[in-house]
Amino acid sequence: MDRSAAVVSEPKASDLVRVAREPNGHAQVAELILNRADKLNTFDTALTDALDTAVAELREDRSVRAIVVAGEGKAFSAGADIAEFSALPDGKAFGDFLMRLEGTFARLSQLPQPTIAAVHGVAYGGGMELALACDFRIAEERARFGLPEIKLGILPGAGGTQRAPRLLPRSVALRLILTGEPMGAEEALRHGFVEEVLPAGEGRRAAGELAARLAALPPLAIAAAKRLVHEGADLPLDQGLLFEREADIELFDTADRAEGTSAFLEKREPRFHGR
Ligand code: COA
Repeated sequence: MDRSAAVVSEPKASDLVRVAREPNGHAQVAELILNRADKLNTFDTALTDALDTAVAELREDRSVRAIVVAGEGKAFSAGADIAEFSALPDGKAFGDFLMRLEGTFARLSQLPQPTIAAVHGVAYGGGMELALACDFRIAEERARFGLPEIKLGILPGAGGTQRAPRLLPRSVALRLILTGEPMGAEEALRHGFVEEVLPAGEGRRAAGELAARLAALPPLAIAAAKRLVHEGADLPLDQGLLFEREADIELFDTADRAEGTSAFLEKREPRFHGR
């Protein structure tokens, strides 16, 4: 992505989460950037709410076809803000804190646009859970993925115990969760957890390139495919197959399907409009 051309600043997104939109032909790629660098992008209530607001805005923005999630400073994110949640009076209040974080990650994972986490430093606790909620992960060499909550006497409670075993071998997920010890970028690549490992400083560019490729594809088909893969994993096969056929039948009647097949037959590049 040519970041010099990025338009930074959405009036509604708070300073804690910046949204930068990048024209990509007639579609757009957006970067969602956690911007609480002095606290390693840890999720206090304010950062969580800012991320939730930015996610809600991007969901409604049909011109944005793919999203890169990144962090400012030396970390992707060091997780939930221990200072904030340790001051909570009881488990019930902690449950509200967790629900806010987990709900935000769930809404991110349910975005119709594909999402790519560009992880350059630590992605610990909620930071790893954020990366788990994205569709793809790209890592720089110094990236570390970890779920250290066990050392605090709690669990990865914003999706970690559920999403990690769905994306990693169960034994590896269990090791991360039970030992609290992190895994490096190369190990993450070996498990297929990240798409690529890049030298320092190149992760966001590589994530932007993948986003640009995704942004050029028909968004209704992308959204349907993403939903079917994520939801299908939790369905009996015959039900998943039924949903797959229904979605494909609906897609057949879209202008983008007509454009895709015509462009192929006419040997030209297609232009998809999400209709
Ligand atoms: N919650 C609250 N504050 C945190 C934090 C967290 N999860 N992680 C880092 N910070 C704060 C530090 O307290 C420090 O604040 P200060 O400058 O006011 O003292 C600042 O962020 C920088 O962190 P620091 O620990 O100095 O950086 P480091 O490079 O030496 O270590 C880590 C980085 C990620 C290894 C270390 O900060 C860490 O282990 N953090 C906790 C990770 C964790 O357990 N996450 C799960 C939470 S449920």
